[in-house]
Amino acid sequence: MKIVFIGGGTIAKAIYKGLPKEHEYVVVKRNLHDEFWTGKADLQPAGTSVEGDVYILAVKPLSFEKAVEPFRNRRQTFISVMASINTEMLVKHLDNENMVRCMPNLSVCIGEGYIPYCQTSDKAEEDFTALFGTLGHLERTEEEYMDALTALTGTSPLYISVFIDALLDAGIKIGLPREMVRKAAVQCTIGGARYLECEKIHPMELKDMVSSPAGTSIHALHNLEKSGVKAAIIEAVEIAYYRAKELKRIKEI
Ligand SMILES: NC(=O)c1ccc[n+]([C@@H]2O[C@H](COP(=O)([O-])OP(=O)(O)OC[C@H]3O[C@@H](n4cnc5c(N)ncnc54)[C@H](OP(=O)(O)O)[C@@H]3O)[C@@H](O)[C@H]2O)c1
Repeated sequence: MKIVFIGGGTIAKAIYKGLPKEHEYVVVKRNLHDEFWTGKADLQPAGTSVEGDVYILAVKPLSFEKAVEPFRNRRQTFISVMASINTEMLVKHLDNENMVRCMPNLSVCIGEGYIPYCQTSDKAEEDFTALFGTLGHLERTEEEYMDALTALTGTSPLYISVFIDALLDAGIKIGLPREMVRKAAVQCTIGGARYLECEKIHPMELKDMVSSPAGTSIHALHNLEKSGVKAAIIEAVEIAYYRAKELKRIKEI
């Protein structure tokens, strides 16, 4: 199958890493001096009209209209990973009914993504699930949830990275060796998430399990609550959600 990436930046590279290598790949982008793609894909300059079996749209929302201009009025499936651009806008600007809007995150490169999607035709969904199945968990949903899922899941590697970075700083501050802290922080984050998933318990049930009277955990938790950590995370996701909506309005003007 011939896969055409329109945009070959951060998320396109992560998706490529998670996809089977038996396909033929073409990448359309502005700067053709990009070491990552050398030997992996045929690089074509932005604005080139390239034929393919499936197209993956991975440009910034504000570059979208210009980038898709050479690809209007085709019948093949287009998979958009762009924030904010909804399926109605995709169908209108590409003049094509076979659209999937999805929201991957960087974990797709190791097959651990969580990818909510909605689609405009059965053909588009079939092509999408056949191709993106190796990238992680595909979750069919409704268009109305996509901006909220963008804020929650598309940005999730960032939230986790900030948390791990804070653990790193904390470990160093209390005197642990850097390499030991790094391994401990990453493994404890993975282990904590897997534990919640396997045991199917609510996160706050875990709080009761680990907080012994007058112990270290309840003291730590008190400080987290005082610092407003949960409120800061809630507000970060909420602000990302409003930004997704704002970008759509900017495009519609
Ligand atoms: N990064 C993430 O974690 C993530 C996750 C989920 C969804 N997304 C979505 O994915 C999209 C891309 O994000 P990104 O982080 O990958 O951005 P990025 O690294 O800036 O990549 C954007 C790509 O678009 C190319 N481009 C710009 N104008 C073009 C045009 N007219 N024709 C063809 N290609 C053009 C750029 O080419 P050059 O490289 O030559 O400049 C670049 O390769 C965004 O809409 C974002 O919402 C990103």
